[in-house]
Formats: sequence, structure tokens, C-alpha cells
Amino acid sequence: MKIGVIGLGTVGYGVVEILTNEKERLEKEIKQEIVVKYGCGLEEVDLPQGIIYTKDYHDVINDEEVDVVVELIGGTTIAKNIILEAIAHKKHVVTANKALLAHYGKEIFQAAKTNDVHIFYEASVGGGIPVLVSQKESLIANNTKEIVGILNGTTNFILTLMENENLDFEEALSIADGLGYVEANPALDLDGIDAAHKICILAQNGFKKFIDFDQIQASGIRNVSKTDMDYAKKLGYRFKMIAQAKPVKDGLGIDVAATLVNLNELIASVMDSYNVVEIDNDYVNNIIYYGRGAGRYVTASAVVSDIMKTTQSEKWSHDYENCPHVYPITLSKYYIRTNKPIDIPYETYYSEKDDHIYISEEIEFNELKEKITNDKAVIFKVRD
Ligand code: HSE
Repeated sequence: MKIGVIGLGTVGYGVVEILTNEKERLEKEIKQEIVVKYGCGLEEVDLPQGIIYTKDYHDVINDEEVDVVVELIGGTTIAKNIILEAIAHKKHVVTANKALLAHYGKEIFQAAKTNDVHIFYEASVGGGIPVLVSQKESLIANNTKEIVGILNGTTNFILTLMENENLDFEEALSIADGLGYVEANPALDLDGIDAAHKICILAQNGFKKFIDFDQIQASGIRNVSKTDMDYAKKLGYRFKMIAQAKPVKDGLGIDVAATLVNLNELIASVMDSYNVVEIDNDYVNNIIYYGRGAGRYVTASAVVSDIMKTTQSEKWSHDYENCPHVYPITLSKYYIRTNKPIDIPYETYYSEKDDHIYISEEIEFNELKEKITNDKAVIFKVRD
């Protein structure tokens, strides 16, 4: 097997390292020689002996000897060209590019089918956690009922810092940024867009439907204050940025939102930059995957597994129908903080200083809004 790695940043270099260090063992596993022929990136890095460095990705794609193209540059412009051109040249493709697959998955999967090549993308969701392969292969007997997850490590790290170190959002963000955790475009993390990319891919994989990413509503954690975090704790909850997907009558309910999670739920105990994915299935019931969702070797681990999988003969089927509608999941319990009492069906009421805090019964968001006249009321979803 001859491989071209395009993108020699954190993950790309990690892939080259693992393939070099583990070469002998991996070759025994897949019963063939593994050669990294090219490392392609804008800036030259020290590559192990024998790997050709190039700046031009066409060198990789035009080389007839290359079997697998690994795209690790990210973004939705050049990366899309690289993948589609590689597929057109009958190369198998491995990518970690969540944004690209969320937006253009359908086009890319169809191109791969037409050209009879593999496209694997485990590293796009949950870093090294083998959740997509598990959904696609190990759980094939099941119909997916619901997917719930903490899919963004950066925001989980920020929420953890706010809670443990008693910091407000801006202070915790600045620490996370200093550690290099925050994406170059912080909105991807903070506004839930990155998590929306990931739940889109998971939902596509689980519910076998192509999803129009633009229909997914995502809000992040910028509006989570220490005040609400402290009230949540007093009532037995913790803030998490939850991504969720489940079938609704004429489509899928999918959204990403800062949500109060009951402290008794396992998902509430997932702290720092860890990710968790819970998948409810009709036969095997609930399965939970927990692990690191980012990092050089964590992500490279998934990429290397995918590269090895290109030796299998059966291609993954992406023969999905289009999902007609995607809605936010608005039937929920809600946390409401207002400065005057309100008349709603509630499970819990708590009052401190001038604040009135409610955990409502399950109610449609629109119905709830009609009952809250105060524009300044703070509202979050609650997951019990
Ligand atoms: N910014 C992402 C996260 C990186 O925090 O989870 C991994 O996809």
C-alpha cells in the first residue's frame, strides 16, 4: 500500500509518525507492505527517510502508485478539490474533515461510489473514539433511536474550568486559548458549529439520511454565566454543550445547545476536554463511548485505522435518502431564571435574592415563551 499524506500539521505529522513507528506490526496485520510515499504541506518539515516532500498536492494525486490519499488540511475549499480529484483518480480517501463532510458529504460519498473507492472519516467525529465504525459495522443489526453527545472538547474544557476554578466565561476562554485548545475561528467551538458538524455526520451515519447542514440549529456556550452554573448545581444539574439527534415524524430533530444535565446522568461526569457519545439502539439499547476527542496521536490513531481499512474489499454503503426536514428539538424540560414569578407547569422552583428559578415540566419552547413576559429571562434546555 502506498500512501500520500496531504497536510503535515499536528495530525498529519502524527499519522506519519505512527505509520513509521508501527510499520512492522501493521504490515503483519494487513498482510502487505506499507509505504508512506509523500508528505505534502505548505511548509517543509523533517520527514522520516524515504518520504518525498512536496508542496503540490497534484504530485500525490497524479502518481499512479499512490493507493490512499489522506486529506488533513481541513477547511471546505482546497480540501474538497483534493478529495474529489483523488477520488476521480481512483484513490481511496481518508479524511478527518468534519466541516467538509457535514456540508458536502453527499457529493463526496456519491463520487466515491461512482469511482468504486473507499472513503473513511472516523477521525472527523470524537477524535480517536471508534464511534462511526462501530455504528456502521458492529451495530449493523440495529436501527438507531437517538444520538446524544458532548462532541466538542474545547467547550467542555471551558465549562469545566468555569465550574472548578470559579471563573467566568471570558477568563476560562482565555486559558483555553492560551493552551492552544480553541480553533483558529473560535466561533466553530464556542457557537456549537464544530459540534453541529459532528452530530450531522453521526446522524447521517446512524439514521442513513443525507442531512442539509444549514438546517441544523446550533447555539454554544457564550451565554452560560457563573450565576446560572451555580443555580444549576444547587438544583442537581451541570451545564454541558449537548448535541442531539433523533427521528421526528417527518424528518430528524437535531440541535446543539448549552443544556443542564442531571448530575446523576453519566454524561454529566464527562469533564475537561473529553468527549462522550451515547447511542440508543433498538436491539442492543444504550451504548456509551468515552474518550479524548482531539490531540495529535488521538486523532492520528483513527486516521491510521482508516488507512488500514482501505485494504478491505467491501466499500461502506452511503445509499441514503435525503432527510426532508431537520428541526431543533424543542419539546424539553427548561431551566428558566427570571426576576418575577411566572405561571408555568414546573417540577422545581427555587428563589434566591431577586431571582426566580424554575425547572419546567416537558413543554414546547413556543408554548413556554408565551408564558414568559420578561424579555430578560434566561432559558436553557434541561436533560434529565
Ligand atoms: N475544536 C475541536 C474540539 C477539535 O474542541 O473538539 C477536535 O475536533
